[in-house]
Amino acid sequence: MSMKHFLKIGDYEPDELQQMLDLSTELHGGQREDLLHKNILFTFEKPSLRTKVGTEVAINHLGGDVIHIDPESFLSGKIVYTQPVSGEDARESLHDTVKNVSQWCDAIFARVFSHKTLQVLSKYSEIPLVNALCDKHHPMQAMADLYTIQQKYGRDQNVSVTFIGDANNVAFSLIEICLLFGHDVRFAGPKQYYWSQEQLDYFADLARRYNAKFTPTTEPEKALKDTDVFYTDSFVSMGEETEYESKIAHFKNYQLTAEAFTHARKNAGFMHCLPAHRGIEVTDEVMDHSNSWVLEQAKNRMVVSKGVFAHLIK
Ligand code: CP
Ligand code: NVA
Repeated sequence: MSMKHFLKIGDYEPDELQQMLDLSTELHGGQREDLLHKNILFTFEKPSLRTKVGTEVAINHLGGDVIHIDPESFLSGKIVYTQPVSGEDARESLHDTVKNVSQWCDAIFARVFSHKTLQVLSKYSEIPLVNALCDKHHPMQAMADLYTIQQKYGRDQNVSVTFIGDANNVAFSLIEICLLFGHDVRFAGPKQYYWSQEQLDYFADLARRYNAKFTPTTEPEKALKDTDVFYTDSFVSMGEETEYESKIAHFKNYQLTAEAFTHARKNAGFMHCLPAHRGIEVTDEVMDHSNSWVLEQAKNRMVVSKGVFAHLIK
């Protein structure tokens, strides 16, 4: 049986993603034993609340176990000497660490700074590797987001989904999954922190292939007009601290305030992957609005983890 990793949404066809979402519903509905006696290795180079806790709870519900390994022992393999030595300071290569954990564990869940780390791991891993967020993608978030949209609007409706903010990992995976499922996707952000031409071409191609629509702009009001869902993420992502001042200045016109609801369709939903920076990318009024779906999204991070891990491990 072939073994698959889950590094990015674009590696999958909608049918298989939907199978994972359907399996999530089934597994969440009752205790199932698919993951019993399985050991999942978690390693995180950056902080996490939802991804770490939500996914661990999902694996516990399915009877599996989580082992946390510090990234220094697994991903960077750093050696600690009692006194300085010259030359090589790596304890061992990623090639060797991932081959080793493949002898004991059944899957790896990794949050890394660079997508390249995942590419090396996936090349040598003998067990499924799942991306818990990297600089380019956040596929587990996108799965929970689509699941939430389907809960709200059903499976068959063409939903308009608008992302306002940074052209980054969360937006990339959200745009991919919504286009794959034929939705009408809009994006608005400042041109200084915009998609590359290659990324825009990729989204346009996905839209063509899946009979969807992709409308990039720099004007938030235009993107929000009559939308069913509007979404934002932090303006400054983990690892971008040195760009803080510059990004905050360029994004100042992209904050989501209660006015967004007046441009959007009546009863439109607000989404945010969280953590949110209240008063920066979004105001309290929007976060705490009755049409804010942020806690449903957070809950669904746990629900969809069940289907994704069970699908990959089985
Ligand atoms: N949305 C999300 O990935 O949250 P954490 O960074 O807390 O895991
Ligand atoms: N774009 C954010 C998402 C956090 C879940 C980051 O990378 O920090």
